[in-house]
Amino acid sequence: MSDTAKRMAALAAAELVQNGMCLGIGTGSTAEHFISILGERVQSGLSITGIATSDRSAAMCRRLGIGLTSLDETPVLDLAIDGTDEFDGGLNLIKGGGGALLREKIVAAAAKRFIVIADGSKQVDVLGAFPLPIEIIPMARIPISRRLADLGASVALRLDAAGTPFQTDEGHWILDSAFGPKISAPEAFAKDLSAWPGVVEHGLFCGMTERVLVATADKVTTIRS
Ligand code: A5P
Repeated sequence: MSDTAKRMAALAAAELVQNGMCLGIGTGSTAEHFISILGERVQSGLSITGIATSDRSAAMCRRLGIGLTSLDETPVLDLAIDGTDEFDGGLNLIKGGGGALLREKIVAAAAKRFIVIADGSKQVDVLGAFPLPIEIIPMARIPISRRLADLGASVALRLDAAGTPFQTDEGHWILDSAFGPKISAPEAFAKDLSAWPGVVEHGLFCGMTERVLVATADKVTTIRS
């Protein structure tokens, strides 16, 4: 069901794509549905260029013939489409479950419109049941972990399949920080976290999302900010 819902949301997002657009292209299983639909449209003649939010999404785009550019060449995007790990009623997000939060935030911020696609399980009243990913400089791991623990989080350094620290596409580490569903003032917390030395970026996306296309059962609902 969840996979069907992800595809339904991705199909709804693909309908917003028009010829000639430059698109931000997200990361994760929902975004991969979107990339796959986009690939079919490109093979049928749609002309777009994209900026991918991860090496993995870029590789998928290349396989499907979706042309890629960079923010150097195209600093302003028409539209960015991405998934999320959680969203609340104010369209604040937790992202980064796939480890691409830094590039995802850069691309979303460069887009005139940022639209999120999700299945219904991602909708929450209060953010935080999903551990908040925080991308850090390795040297700052312990001080930042201690500060997070002081705030009540249970903190885990993300590891890869070999048991060594997972490295983001930009060469940083990720601390998955479980607060429980208690992040009731995400904007203030986001600003606070951004000021911590050693934090490169965090997975709170506040005030960025134009709408969420959320698929539940047999329909896609649009939730606007
Ligand atoms: C990638 O870093 C994440 O921000 C994803 O967008 C998020 O984890 C959603 O992934 P799924 O679509 O796989 O649930």
